[in-house]
Amino acid sequence: MTQTSSKSADLLARDRAHLLHPLHNAKQHQQARVWVSGQGAILTDADGKTFIDGLAGLWNVTAGHGNQELVHAMHEQAGRLAYVSGYSGSSNPRAIELAEQLATLCYPSISHFFFTSGGGEATESSIKMARAYWKHRGQSAKTKVISREEGYHGVTLAAMSATGLSPYWPLFEPRVPGFSHIPSPYPYRYEGRDHQSQGLSAADELEQAILREGAETVAMFIAEPVQGAGGVIVPQDDYFPRIREICDRYQVLLVADEVITGFGRTGEMFGLNHWGIEPDIIQFAKAITSGYFPFGGIGINDSIADTLDKADTPWMHAYTYSAHPVGCAVALRMLRLIKEESFPEQAATKGRRLLQQLRSALSDHPHVGDIRGKGLMCAVELVENKETKEAFSAEQQIGMRVNQEAIEKGLFSRVKGDSYLLAPPVVTTDSQLDQIVEILTKAIRAILG
Ligand SMILES: Cc1ncc(COP(=O)(O)O)c(C=O)c1O
Repeated sequence: MTQTSSKSADLLARDRAHLLHPLHNAKQHQQARVWVSGQGAILTDADGKTFIDGLAGLWNVTAGHGNQELVHAMHEQAGRLAYVSGYSGSSNPRAIELAEQLATLCYPSISHFFFTSGGGEATESSIKMARAYWKHRGQSAKTKVISREEGYHGVTLAAMSATGLSPYWPLFEPRVPGFSHIPSPYPYRYEGRDHQSQGLSAADELEQAILREGAETVAMFIAEPVQGAGGVIVPQDDYFPRIREICDRYQVLLVADEVITGFGRTGEMFGLNHWGIEPDIIQFAKAITSGYFPFGGIGINDSIADTLDKADTPWMHAYTYSAHPVGCAVALRMLRLIKEESFPEQAATKGRRLLQQLRSALSDHPHVGDIRGKGLMCAVELVENKETKEAFSAEQQIGMRVNQEAIEKGLFSRVKGDSYLLAPPVVTTDSQLDQIVEILTKAIRAILG
């Protein structure tokens, strides 16, 4: 166990006295770090020790820490007009400009946007948009939501019900009715059910679920283009085109949860660009403000927008901080940065380098089962038996121990079970990427030989 020095120890004692955390766990929090500053991909803790931010905060800080242009945009807008209602009947220029710009940047069929304070609110908004749409279209039985195992869509009650990571559920049961899950395409572990490709088999799970539920009752299917919190699961190339076909066949809205994949992280501006298909609704958050302001939203296709515009009754869904002028100003500056500094191309190049180096350093290790990634999102999955892909027993806590070891060595990230996750800022330098590989390799060897 680490001996925390006095500054951190003092802050942590005060933290424990009054502060509750997301995923609150007093025992795990004993070894928490208290961060005081950041620059680019580097974080500094209260004792002055530096770490590489291997997950860019929570996948969001793509522009890196300490970006003064984003700070300036925030400061400037807060000084001019910090807040105004975004409810129907009230608007602001930054929100108008942001929606205009997103309309040119996003999938061609999506040109109307609603803003939230984050990803979970975006999921709630998609669900309430899909249900409202079908009601307006006279198909009010279409209310059900299908999502995937290992999918993460947030933890407000409906979003949690869509989330397919079961440890998030037990303390809060019962979940919202009308939600079900299909297996993730998970190339390393999914076993196809018939003679077609793994990707098509996994996609056909959706058709079977729709038929089981009754197509006339299913409103939407929600999926992350690359599953993030579930372990950086990159689907097969034939997966999403077949998903699109199935959604069209049964009139089920396809919702792309691009809270992590949006704005360049995977090497394309949006995740489904990799496979040449468009969703009916897109969700975004995180990188749109690089974490400098809590912000997110949804975009809807023209058919949904037209239906909403023609409706007599209002869409009774709202947040006080929807279209927040300061959030919109930060997002506008961020969009400029993404374009000027070619974030998608940078993520593609740096991601290739990271993945290739991880593979050359770790592929031969007897407990490294899978090394996968797309753009600047990667995972290294550790297994007991490489031949059979048998996982380590949960009691061994291999992932957690490797993570602790990596933190000791100056790399801060997260694990999902025994998969070590990496999604550093897009501005991470090549030598910092090399350091990430070096530290992770040493950490894995320290725990697993
Ligand atoms: C794909 C996805 N959707 C939704 C969310 C929830 O976002 P938030 O934590 O801002 O509510 C997350 C958060 O990690 C996410 O990765």
